[in-house]
Amino acid sequence: MNRIIYLNGRFTRANDAVISPEDRGFNFADGVYEVVKYYRGKPFRMEDHLERLKFSLGEVGINYSPVKELAAVFAELLQLNGLENSDAGIYLQISRGAAPRVHHFPAGLTPTVYATAFPFPSFSLSLETGIPVVTAKDIRWLRCDIKSVSLLPNTMLYNRAVEIGAGECILIRDGLVTEATHSSVFGIRNNTVFTHPLSHLILPGITRKVVLEICKAQGISVGEKAFSEEELLDMDEVFLAGTGSEVMPVVSINDVPVSGGIPGRITRRLQALFFEAVTQHCQIQGRLQSF
Ligand SMILES: Cc1ncc(COP(=O)(O)O)c(C=O)c1O
Repeated sequence: MNRIIYLNGRFTRANDAVISPEDRGFNFADGVYEVVKYYRGKPFRMEDHLERLKFSLGEVGINYSPVKELAAVFAELLQLNGLENSDAGIYLQISRGAAPRVHHFPAGLTPTVYATAFPFPSFSLSLETGIPVVTAKDIRWLRCDIKSVSLLPNTMLYNRAVEIGAGECILIRDGLVTEATHSSVFGIRNNTVFTHPLSHLILPGITRKVVLEICKAQGISVGEKAFSEEELLDMDEVFLAGTGSEVMPVVSINDVPVSGGIPGRITRRLQALFFEAVTQHCQIQGRLQSF
């Protein structure tokens, strides 16, 4: 791993980067993060990602104000790694900083700011065929609206899904579908698109927001309303949405086929409209995906 990363105001080789063992991100997962996707080198919905970052920082009380300047840092990072014209991702993490290990938040810490760039092509085959998913109990905390780096429950659940050949794990809290381990969940029943309402139980997904905007613009009826696991299994169509997942059809849940085991008609339409929205937003010549 010898790409160039950004750490605390400097661009440096990843192998040369140093973070204190007393960093609270390391000891307490005391930090927040964002992942931004670039299409052909152009960021998709950067403003939304930076707004959400500000929200996460504010909720956990990490004092980092130059959020707006990060967009320029990311652009330079892409350039330094030869990704300036690519489909690429930026991972950004801001922790509270380093201090002797105490449980309260020590005053006056300088946050640790880390960003890395990586190639991030679309999962084209899965987008075309759709993916199988499983369900599991949502064992996360009650502030899932904060994009915290504390992802152990998410990774445990996703890892179990991968081990049994599934592409995502849909989470169920008190009988209701919240979201998935790293994507938002949508179900379509009788031409209405349902998804969990914004609350402390889900991440306010940027792709979720884009999908809802598309539905509104197209006159597709939307219900921002929690639905049960039974209702999920009875949906005409199910899909996931996320920065990496984009608009991902679900073709089976716990080995039971959804929409006859192929991507549903409305899902396909939303998928196409999503890539159109990306094409416009990122001012791309030509088409991004078509199935
Ligand atoms: C738990 C969770 N929900 C939803 C999403 C989708 O959010 P976005 O569309 O902003 O990538 C993510 C993305 O990482 C996530 O981790």
